[in-house]
Amino acid sequence: MIHVLLEKKGHVAVATVNRPQALNALNSEVLDDLNELVDTVKADGDIYALILTGAGEKAFVAGADIAQMSGLNAAEGEAFGKKGNDVFRKLETLPIPTIAAVNGYALGGGCELSMACDIRICSDNAVFGQPETGLGITPGFGGTQRLPRLIGPGMAKQLIYSARNIKADEALRVGLVNAVYPTGELMAAAEKLALTIASNAPVAVRACKKAINDGLEAEMDAAVVIEEKLFGSCFATEDQKEGMAAFLEKRKHEPYQNR
Ligand code: CAA
Repeated sequence: MIHVLLEKKGHVAVATVNRPQALNALNSEVLDDLNELVDTVKADGDIYALILTGAGEKAFVAGADIAQMSGLNAAEGEAFGKKGNDVFRKLETLPIPTIAAVNGYALGGGCELSMACDIRICSDNAVFGQPETGLGITPGFGGTQRLPRLIGPGMAKQLIYSARNIKADEALRVGLVNAVYPTGELMAAAEKLALTIASNAPVAVRACKKAINDGLEAEMDAAVVIEEKLFGSCFATEDQKEGMAAFLEKRKHEPYQNR
């Protein structure tokens, strides 16, 4: 991977989209590297949480690469959209929790990348938006689908139709991000959150992610069954035995073993 850097800190991994000269814009090569990142993280059973951020001080990701997209015909445009959607869907369904640490511009494909993560936190200089209609296109990496699901259709339609960018405080108000931090404190906050998540039973956290994601796509009667099955599966794990024994014996649990 050239355009995505991966660093492991214990059970937490930090991935950085690294193309700062183009504000980390997503061209085909960056999408290929993100695809490889997800495969690498998924294959590493020792990573319990993933943080995604952007290189440099200005941008998380400033969008899909406009220079690369400018000459596409309709079929090539559709294929480019599918390429991004496939990678982002793979990221969204990565079994472990993901945190987007949005450190500046998250526009177009950048906003869409953050929305494919489970949790978004940002720095106070962050700017979010779907500027595509101003360029003559629709959002193409999931924005028309994930933004309304996250913040509701009314506000999503307003932002997408108007192509208006919003600053961190408004992103917090509309529920696009969970928290805003001073720029220099963002990564520490992301790592603290990831460590907190990683200290809980990893099999249980993964089961929660699956229950929430799969359940949101199902009717409630089917959704609660999805939860029941995953809840039940936890009772076959060593971590459940240790977690509950520790509570009953009034002691701190041993570090969870992810099994
Ligand atoms: N694609 C390609 N290159 C980009 C880019 C993008 N999305 N965003 C920034 N860059 C490049 C610029 O062309 C510039 O390159 P050069 O130095 O070679 O000229 C470099 O990054 C720095 O950018 P600026 O000089 O523009 O920096 P700025 O501080 O003046 O402005 C910005 C920052 C407001 C983010 C501005 O760069 C901008 O508006 N970028 C485009 C944002 C955008 O429209 N994103 C959506 C793309 S469409 C999309 O993503 C479709 C989809 O859903 C899949």
